[in-house]
Amino acid sequence: MTAAHDHTPRQLLDFYLEAGADALVGKEPVDRFAATDAPPPALATRAPESAPSRPDFTRAGPAIQPATAPQATDEAVMAARQAAKGAGTLDELRALLEKFDGCALKGSATQLVFADGNPKAKLMLVGEAPGRDEDIEGLPFVGRSGKLLDRMLAAISFDRTSVYIANIVPWRPPGNRTPTPQETQICLPFVLRQIELIDPDILVCLGGPSAQTLLGIKDGITKTRGRWFTFNSGKREIRAMPTFHPAFLLRSPLQKRFAWRDFLAVKKALVE
Ligand code: URA
Repeated sequence: MTAAHDHTPRQLLDFYLEAGADALVGKEPVDRFAATDAPPPALATRAPESAPSRPDFTRAGPAIQPATAPQATDEAVMAARQAAKGAGTLDELRALLEKFDGCALKGSATQLVFADGNPKAKLMLVGEAPGRDEDIEGLPFVGRSGKLLDRMLAAISFDRTSVYIANIVPWRPPGNRTPTPQETQICLPFVLRQIELIDPDILVCLGGPSAQTLLGIKDGITKTRGRWFTFNSGKREIRAMPTFHPAFLLRSPLQKRFAWRDFLAVKKALVE
């Protein structure tokens, strides 16, 4: 075994990255060993006296708040609905999202990942949330799963000039964790408005979370993939199909044959 001091800073950083520690949680570093005797800072919300005591990680650093308290979530969802309603165009929607501070993910993400593709497309695909590559480039599905998605689209003669791609959540969750239900609810009004503005003929939900969120279904993706659902955009009813997420297909390549079937069905529906 090698001692920690045998590693170069580069190797240590690579180790952190592989372990998923690739996002900042604060703008300034906090030396938590430096001031262990300092009195803890006042917390905005105190646990009741009778609550079991927990280690105080906030000593000598900024008070750590939960990402979104329930009341804050309700307010943020209302603010998001209000903002999204006011967007008459995609550019306005993007500008509103850039200004929107109701979702804590914005604070840890590098930038907004709004969409890619053709706003006039008849086919719209919606994923779950940006990953590391998307966060860096500011575009959805540009990493390994994006490359697979491009190949799947090419197989039915589509590319990013003929489809429109977005995500339920437009900011990368730290370390690529799953967005919380609160984060999803806060971001939902924006993607709903995005779908309404694009007004595609066919909506493809990439993966279970996208399908469950947009189509209001509870079943998992293995049960729902390849089936047609109806998505009501507020403007009209749109045919919608859940299919496997490309990241899942990278891990389970045998399932690609089912995704292939789904994409063929989508292509057929588009030319009908
Ligand atoms: N996974 C997603 O759901 N969306 C992306 O943009 C990238 C990976």
